[in-house]
Amino acid sequence: MKKYHLSILLIILCSYISLATRSFALDEGGCLTCHQYPGLVRLEKTGGFKVLHIDEEKYFKSSHGKFRCNSCHVTVVKVPHTGETKVDCRTKCHQGDDAKILPANYPIGAFHKQEQSFLVSLQDESSCRICHPLYPHSNNNLVRGFLNLHAGFMFCEVCHINRSKFNNLSYEWESSESAEFSGAPFGTFYNPQTKKARKSKHFISRITAFAPQNGKNRSLTNTWDTAKAKAYVRKEKNLKPDEKEKELTFFHKDIEKKEISVACNECHSANGILDFNKLGFDEKKTKDLIYTNIKGLVTKYKTFYFPNLFGN
Ligand code: HEC
Ligand code: HEC
Ligand code: HEC
Ligand code: HEC
Ligand code: HEC
Repeated sequence: MKKYHLSILLIILCSYISLATRSFALDEGGCLTCHQYPGLVRLEKTGGFKVLHIDEEKYFKSSHGKFRCNSCHVTVVKVPHTGETKVDCRTKCHQGDDAKILPANYPIGAFHKQEQSFLVSLQDESSCRICHPLYPHSNNNLVRGFLNLHAGFMFCEVCHINRSKFNNLSYEWESSESAEFSGAPFGTFYNPQTKKARKSKHFISRITAFAPQNGKNRSLTNTWDTAKAKAYVRKEKNLKPDEKEKELTFFHKDIEKKEISVACNECHSANGILDFNKLGFDEKKTKDLIYTNIKGLVTKYKTFYFPNLFGN
């Protein structure tokens, strides 16, 4: 009888503990499905950029960590979001005779700063970066943030090389570059020369496309047009539209735009163009990259409404 009681007690205790830990890290709104990724960034129309990353662990440990995202972000109900910038701090707190009532001009802009990581700059010698910003995608507001987070993982050519112009393309690490991060560094610190990974605040390695030439694999990261690109930028304002077009065609001669409907699956699938294992990603990371679940949200749905499972 005693034994029986003890085991019941144990079961109750265990399920209580697992519930408690679960609810601590539970992201009911599913917001972190997308927002958990460092480097999720979009450009601001006014210049500069807006960081959209929220680190799960740091958020839950922060002074507001016990609140669900939608207790302040009251207007975010679907993806792509609309009107979501309106944050309401008074749903549960900072209201009525609450001593912590906020003055009207209280600066809230840096609210999540401690929970965010992104690349601030990258010493990139490619021709592309003479004209395009570090976070180059700005058109489609559902995918631009996700595409931009790849800036820290690979060169433009991996996605944009015109594959019909090259045979036997392969994808390998390019040598490391100087990088400056805000928050925790992320990405890969693999040194292709020594074939060793080393964690560093100041260096990053990225993947690029290679094609065979004279018996050797040549990197297709375009650095040979960099000087010409700089010259173009200097004289651009004096050029006529058709001259501009001609020059731009030259700089984009090996480049194609990608169809977004196939873009994610080209890599995040079991038979994608990248061999994650060979590139040095461990088994767990490889699985994560193959089955990353947002690509579904991005490619399948035009508009995705959050299931409101738990109410507000
Ligand atoms: C399917 C992916 C996805 C999910 C799930 C998601 N977001 Fe987002 N969110 C994005 C993307 C992508 C952007 C950047 C949009 C852009 O580029 O304009 C964004 C932007 C934002 C912004 C900044 C808006 C701005 O431009 O000022 C806020 C705030 C935000 N999300 C909050 C939330 C909250 C809260 C949730 C959960 C209720 C959530 N998001 C769930 C993908 C998602
Ligand atoms: C206690 C209130 C509060 C909670 C809870 C909260 N946020 Fe925020 N969030 C803010 C404020 C304030 C801003 C800044 C808004 C502004 O600048 O207009 C913000 C901004 C953002 C942005 C835009 C990027 C930025 O830094 O300006 C994103 C994305 C975001 N929050 C996502 C989330 C996610 C995901 C969660 C849950 C894990 C969450 N927020 C929980 C108050 C909150
Ligand atoms: C001399 C400046 C310059 C250089 C160098 C340059 N770009 Fe561009 N790129 C532009 C401009 C301006 C546009 C927008 C006008 C247009 O669509 O032609 C553009 C557009 C694009 C587009 C979108 C095309 C479309 O159909 O919408 C892609 C993709 C692109 N560039 C990638 C690259 C890549 C990759 C490189 C490096 C190999 C590169 N660019 C080099 C200036 C440049
Ligand atoms: C992970 C793959 C990937 C990488 C890496 C990548 N792009 Fe793209 N890019 C895309 C896809 C997919 C589209 C089409 C997006 C759409 O339809 O909105 C695109 C569209 C563009 C566009 C036009 C649309 C826009 O949002 O402005 C430009 C310009 C562009 N890319 C430039 C670049 C440059 C420059 C680089 C390198 C610095 C780069 N891209 C790296 C996948 C990528
Ligand atoms: C050319 C190949 C390629 C394409 C195309 C591509 N990705 Fe990726 N993606 C990668 C690689 C490689 C990494 C991560 C490498 C790392 O962590 O160092 C990555 C990382 C990510 C991550 C972060 C995952 C993590 O665990 O760090 C997300 C989210 C993601 N991709 C979503 C997308 C979406 C959404 C699309 C389509 C819009 C897309 N990717 C298109 C190759 C690609």
